[in-house]
Amino acid sequence: MISLSHVSTTFAGRGKEPLTAVDDVSLHVPRGSIQGIIGFSGAGKSTLLRNINLLERPTSGEVRVAGTELTSLDDAALRKARHQMGMIFQGFNLVNNLTVAQNVELSLKFAGVRDRRERLRRAAEALEIVDITDKTAVYPAQLSGGQKQRVAIARALATKPEVLLCDEPTSALDPFTTATVLQYLADVNREFGITVVIVTHEMDVIKALADNVAVMEDGRVVEEFPAQELTREGFNPRTSIGRYLLSDGITLDRTGRSRTDLPAQDRSGPEDSESVQQNPTLAGAAGGVR
Ligand SMILES: Nc1ncnc2c1ncn2[C@@H]1O[C@H](COP(=O)(O)OP(=O)(O)O)[C@@H](O)[C@H]1O
Ligand SMILES: [Mg+2]
Repeated sequence: MISLSHVSTTFAGRGKEPLTAVDDVSLHVPRGSIQGIIGFSGAGKSTLLRNINLLERPTSGEVRVAGTELTSLDDAALRKARHQMGMIFQGFNLVNNLTVAQNVELSLKFAGVRDRRERLRRAAEALEIVDITDKTAVYPAQLSGGQKQRVAIARALATKPEVLLCDEPTSALDPFTTATVLQYLADVNREFGITVVIVTHEMDVIKALADNVAVMEDGRVVEEFPAQELTREGFNPRTSIGRYLLSDGITLDRTGRSRTDLPAQDRSGPEDSESVQQNPTLAGAAGGVR
């Protein structure tokens, strides 16, 4: 469904060195699958996701979605192709002075649905998918985080896309609400066959939802594996960040012993990049606070 071929994205640095956010990434996402992309902050995940709908045009490489090479399209054709792709974000990106129904309607307006009644019908239908029909007349400020994200999912689904791009969709939510939102994404994938790409730094999200995992570091996809490998005993990812996926998350030493009682050469803190590299637990903690 999605085929990235040698995609790179370089940002011209203002007076500084140019920065390559996405570096020669090739990735194939089968139709109807859920692709997870995990990596620490700054790895290039958001840029890569935006490369898929050309919100960020790659500096080089090819982007194929449903067989169409997007980088070669003119503006009108690209706009049309983009309507096959919905997107949701960590910060929900709802328009605050529009009601829930109007937010969803707006995306249909942008997609060129001219008939107002048709827009209202489709907005109501989309809001029903995420079980939020009782909130259609309220404004985003009156919603919880989970409800806002459900509205954002409805808005993304209203144009009946084939692909749903999700940029850290649960990173602003508590674990319970995260599970609810992920369940809706899983349902949408199963019921409508929508191909989902989800970018996250949370391994629990990957474990719960993804079919396939790509691990990103420094703009590159450094490792790929089927998500079911994560539960196989003896599975050992090649990279340190890959191994962190299998660790139990953040553990801290609260005795102070690790710094004072150890021989000098072992007294390295999280700011020591060498130890961050070698200790996936510390790497995780550092990634979490960045
Ligand atoms: N529009 C931009 N202009 C310049 N640099 C950018 C831009 N967008 C992202 N970057 C840089 O590219 C790198 C990757 O960013 P991003 O894709 O947001 O990573 P992630 O989503 O994994 O945190 C970072 O170093 C970031 O500062
Ligand atoms: Mg990001």
